[in-house]
Amino acid sequence: MADKDPLHDRAAGNGLLHRRMLLQGGLAGAGGLVLQRAAAAGRAPGAPLSGYGAPSRFEQAVQRGDFSNQPGTLGSGASRTPLQFLEGTLTPSGLHFERHHSGVPELDPAQHKLTLHGRVRRNLEFSTEDLLRYPMVSRIMFLECSGNSAANLSAQPKALDCGHIHGLVSASEWTGVPVSVLLQEAGLDPAASWVIAEGADAARMNRSIPMHKMLDDAIIALYQNGERLRAENGYPMRLFLPGYEGNASVKWLRYLQVSTQPAMSRQETSKYTDLGKDGTAEVFTFPMQVKSVITSPSPGLHLRGPGLYEISGLAWTGNGAVNKVEVSADGGASWAEAALDGVVLPQALTRFRMVWQWDGAPCVLLSRAVDSSGTQPSREALLKRMGQRFFYHYNAIQAWRVGADGQLQNTYV
Ligand code: CO
Repeated sequence: MADKDPLHDRAAGNGLLHRRMLLQGGLAGAGGLVLQRAAAAGRAPGAPLSGYGAPSRFEQAVQRGDFSNQPGTLGSGASRTPLQFLEGTLTPSGLHFERHHSGVPELDPAQHKLTLHGRVRRNLEFSTEDLLRYPMVSRIMFLECSGNSAANLSAQPKALDCGHIHGLVSASEWTGVPVSVLLQEAGLDPAASWVIAEGADAARMNRSIPMHKMLDDAIIALYQNGERLRAENGYPMRLFLPGYEGNASVKWLRYLQVSTQPAMSRQETSKYTDLGKDGTAEVFTFPMQVKSVITSPSPGLHLRGPGLYEISGLAWTGNGAVNKVEVSADGGASWAEAALDGVVLPQALTRFRMVWQWDGAPCVLLSRAVDSSGTQPSREALLKRMGQRFFYHYNAIQAWRVGADGQLQNTYV
């Protein structure tokens, strides 16, 4: 197309514009108002200094949502990151999703110990202070519960917002001690092939982790976003397994038992397994698969009339880095490649952006991410492959229906 007007530089149907638009600067006409500068008036001094900052009181609606406490238990359930209210690729620590199996234990770092035992030359015990003396590594990484997005398994689309459907994913900079260093110090039995990690919570939540993962990139995380872990994220120490389903990154880590076989514990047999079409269950399905979701616009963030908008969303994969994200504004009839913002990191959230000229007519917005394993599947393709009885690892394309009134809702295509 030789048209010089960038507004006519179409990338796909129904108003998706070429991503060059983003590089060329602002969204002229997106709705900013030019105001006359008010005459300078006297201002009273503001609030005093504080020891620990908190969000503005005008942002108090930005909260974790859907506590989904499980009936009959105390502290077992999940809260979700309100993805639709956030931008960029990091989750504020206080908005990181939670998944607890028996509440948040209060652990005194001066008392807490990590014991490394089993098929090792010598058992080791580490206090929090001991671990803080080891060399550490920092990495920005996502954490996703494998039950994330399972709301879209319902036969009819539920009237939920982005955070309530997909908010069991968050990202932080995690800092800690490589597990490989501690295992080498203990001395591994050559037959050792699994490590069973157990938390200090009342549920004694435990998972069996393949030795290759523990030796590759697992860390004992002590810091989250530059400060010590939040209590609900495992204070004073947690296991962190890049790209793996969140439950395996055991919080409030108390024991690492080196073994020649997995524990086959409750949380890896009755839960966190994938029931296939033929009734057999797959166990130890750890890596989170390629996924993306448009966070803005999305339900609750309605469009204020026809005009230019930026479509913004998140993409991630446990398999490495996101290669590409495509967006459709016509329910999948045509697709355009979105711009990936900043540096694309492996096992982290990637922000994608697309410029869109909405004509005011009803339509359906989609995004699909691509990684080394392929393209994020449609809901239909995922259900065809997995059947109707699985629950974990739902990673199908999310569709948002845009009404003529600018309201958005969850839909299936
Ligand atoms: Co799994």
